[in-house]
Amino acid sequence: MSGQTQDMRYLTFALGKGRLADKTLALLEKIGITCEEMKDKNSRKLIFVNEELRFRFFLAKGSDVPTYVEYGAADIGVVGRDTILEENRRVYEVLDLGFGKCRMCVCGPAPAKELLQHHEMIRVASKYPKIAKDYFYDQKHQTVDIIKLNGSVELGPIVGLSDVIVDIVETGSTLKENGLEVLEEICPLSARMIVNQVSMKMEAERIKKLLQALKDVITTEANYENRKIID
Ligand code: PRP
Repeated sequence: MSGQTQDMRYLTFALGKGRLADKTLALLEKIGITCEEMKDKNSRKLIFVNEELRFRFFLAKGSDVPTYVEYGAADIGVVGRDTILEENRRVYEVLDLGFGKCRMCVCGPAPAKELLQHHEMIRVASKYPKIAKDYFYDQKHQTVDIIKLNGSVELGPIVGLSDVIVDIVETGSTLKENGLEVLEEICPLSARMIVNQVSMKMEAERIKKLLQALKDVITTEANYENRKIID
């Protein structure tokens, strides 16, 4: 290892556990950033190091990733846009990674559509109370009662806890199997890269180089996908 590399400080990545982390690692691998240690599924280690490139990686609960990045415990994070909007942390959102695409929607049984037209006081269940509040209060100017749930949110209208839900829709099969549908779309979602505000200045060169390399791969892959559709 060269003296210069040894002096470089570690750039730390916080990755949201699960599919997003797997896809992020696959993307990083394409630009030559690998972490063999992390591929051992039996390992209980929480932090992994690439000594040569001076990168460190850790897996965290998705909703905690913006917190690690805001406080500088991680320089860079990868997390869904839903989490960024809900957590509202002081971080820079720098790149749409193009995977983990889905939509944040207001969903419910078809007749509940009517309840969204006339500013009625309705109950909204969600894992994302901030996103739900911002949408209903600031965009629709509708006063609603927001009920926080931690999962299986589709149960809300089925068991009579709420009139509608605000939740992520990917394939739509969870809604369909439970007799619910998308009533309104709030925003599109996908995996995003976020950066600590101080790191962006102090490590500008390394981070910009990383972002450019990622952008190049993402653009090339998108062009390839488009070509496949056209062909
Ligand atoms: C998410 C989301 C929906 C489902 C949407 O739940 O909250 O329930 O996925 O996916 P689909 O449109 O492809 O059916 P998740 O699996 O994260 O579990 P949760 O119910 O515990 O939130």
